[in-house]
Amino acid sequence: MLTGPVLRTDRLVLRPLAPADAGPIAGYRSLPDVARYQSWEAFSPADAARLVAAQLGVVPDTPGTWLQLAITTDGGVVGDCGLHFLDDRQAELGVTLDPAHQGRGYAAEALRAVLDYLFGALGKHRVVATTDARNRPAAALFERLGFRREAHFVRNVWFKGGWGDEFLFARLAEEWARDRAR
Ligand SMILES: CC(C)(COP(=O)(O)OP(=O)(O)OC[C@H]1O[C@@H](n2cnc3c(N)ncnc32)[C@H](O)[C@@H]1OP(=O)(O)O)[C@@H](O)C(=O)NCCC(=O)NCCS
Repeated sequence: MLTGPVLRTDRLVLRPLAPADAGPIAGYRSLPDVARYQSWEAFSPADAARLVAAQLGVVPDTPGTWLQLAITTDGGVVGDCGLHFLDDRQAELGVTLDPAHQGRGYAAEALRAVLDYLFGALGKHRVVATTDARNRPAAALFERLGFRREAHFVRNVWFKGGWGDEFLFARLAEEWARDRAR
């Protein structure tokens, strides 16, 4: 059984992945513009089915696991996000949007709901995100969400045939609470 939170925003519902999501997820994850700074080169329907199947039995907030959520509108799946529970108090985020639905604020809106869940419901202390240093839309997204760029790692990762740079972004619970109180 696929378990996990259902998070609602003005325009979106974030929910655990379902088997029917495999088609749309493969559709956008296999696009070169989407894959460019991600861990995959290609993403087939079978890869997407494995991603969904791997979520079976995942218990949210278990250290060492990823919880994948579908980002949906009334029209269906527009993207997905991953919550990586690093330890009891810290989590890492990843997010992917179908290019047909980028540039509308969906990623920021989705991740604000995820941050409310992580800092609010789950009481996390710190949330981080690692981006390829060339991935400007991802850096802009985390800066928009109030994350601090804490590190620029230089040629630290072997990525798609060469050494690449990464940024580390982070946000603390007290910063999230302060902004929520404004
Ligand atoms: C990273 C990624 C999710 C960012 O998507 P995005 O669409 O740029 O981000 P948002 O959904 O928050 O949208 C913000 C844009 O929508 C615009 N926008 C339009 N309507 C808006 C609204 N109602 N509310 C907020 N923003 C709106 C903003 O002005 C902004 O545009 P700009 O970038 O031209 O300034 C996307 O580029 C992506 O999926 N990339 C491929 C996967 C990837 O590399 N992921 C990163 C791994 S960590």
